[in-house]
Amino acid sequence: MTTLGTPLSPSATRVMLLGSGELGKEVLIALQRLGVETIAVDRYDNAPGQQVAHHARTITMSDPAQLKALIEAERPHLVVPEIEAIATPMLQELEAAGVVTVIPTARAARLTMDREGIRRLAAETLGLPTSPYRFCDSLAELQAAIDAGIGYPCIVKPVMSSSGKGQSKIDGPADVQKAWDYAMAGGRVSHGRIIVEGFIDFDYEITQLTVRAKGADGAVQTHFCDPIGHVQVGGDYVESWQPMAMSAAAIDQSRQIAKAVTDDLGGLGLFGVELFVKGDQVWFSEVSPRPHDTGLVTLCTQHQSEFELHARAILGLPVDTRLRNPGASAVIYGGVDAQGIVFDGVDEALAVPGTDLRLFGKPESFTKRRMGVALARAETTDAARANAKLAASKVQPRRG
Ligand SMILES: Nc1ncnc2c1ncn2[C@@H]1O[C@H](COP(=O)(O)OP(=O)(O)OP(=O)(O)O)[C@@H](O)[C@H]1O
Ligand SMILES: [Mg+2]
Repeated sequence: MTTLGTPLSPSATRVMLLGSGELGKEVLIALQRLGVETIAVDRYDNAPGQQVAHHARTITMSDPAQLKALIEAERPHLVVPEIEAIATPMLQELEAAGVVTVIPTARAARLTMDREGIRRLAAETLGLPTSPYRFCDSLAELQAAIDAGIGYPCIVKPVMSSSGKGQSKIDGPADVQKAWDYAMAGGRVSHGRIIVEGFIDFDYEITQLTVRAKGADGAVQTHFCDPIGHVQVGGDYVESWQPMAMSAAAIDQSRQIAKAVTDDLGGLGLFGVELFVKGDQVWFSEVSPRPHDTGLVTLCTQHQSEFELHARAILGLPVDTRLRNPGASAVIYGGVDAQGIVFDGVDEALAVPGTDLRLFGKPESFTKRRMGVALARAETTDAARANAKLAASKVQPRRG
């Protein structure tokens, strides 16, 4: 049986989000609706999720001492990582000491914190199909790995990076040095390890949202959402839609891969499994043990969005992953580098039939920072994509 308390009272069920961006904000809203007391943590003040939580805390989450001090001071029932750049070894220590429960598990947070842990687990331990890859610590090693079999074209990514930062494609020998330098400049932490991956010439890529939740008998069951198709530009998602039309064989293969990875990572919650598909063939790319940015579309397509599914699953509640209607999402970028920007055209955007909008409330805009998303539901994903893009184009961010 799951019992929930009253927020801001001694009976409160307390949940701490580590990272409080646009995805965390939606998880926090879902938790708030269930009367959960929420603590939103981020590295800067007034992050989107901090604006809708009971408590806001600003710390350097990659600093183990700061993280430990905050968790020990707040004593949340659950700690929910929303980003990768967290001192996950400290989370493992605190979990092992019985101080806190980490979602889905501290081990999962650690393995997915950089590309190496999760790639080795998927390819070498679980034997799942992935692109050919090598980890390299120098330009010479990179060249050697390409020559020894990765070949051209290939993709170089810093081991510690997300949203396509520091990532580039190498088409031939002339691009190798450039890709190395770009990766060194774009990595999150200043250590020089990269992954080089053979380029997969996929037909399309999907996110397979997968939920581990307790069933009526208390045992953990795995639930699958309909596949989400998406378009990435420079490693960053710009558009997504659900459902993605796929062959039965490709769906089956996707779910098998998603099941294998999430079974191993364990715990409770929603995962975003990124897969490449060509015909009936499916490759594992990576997994987020938390809601996925391309899954923002579920705010307008599913009975329970990925954020509600995550909130329910982590609290030990039942979930319903059914699609309600086709839909699409289109990203709204800042377009300017400025604080406190304004958005023109919101009325025109929402006049597009079947649309909705999320403006994340980020205090500072950058040209390529995701500041909002347009959502559209329609009879078909094609119609939804057109309307989501149209609505997004009507929203014009500018200096305030
Ligand atoms: N081996 C590959 N072959 C072909 N395309 C690839 C390969 N690896 C990555 N890509 C393309 O680049 C995109 C981003 O790659 P990846 O997901 O590894 O980076 P990321 O920085 O973790 O991005 P995000 O944080 O947005 O998920 C993929 O969604 C895919 O479109
Ligand atoms: Mg990715």
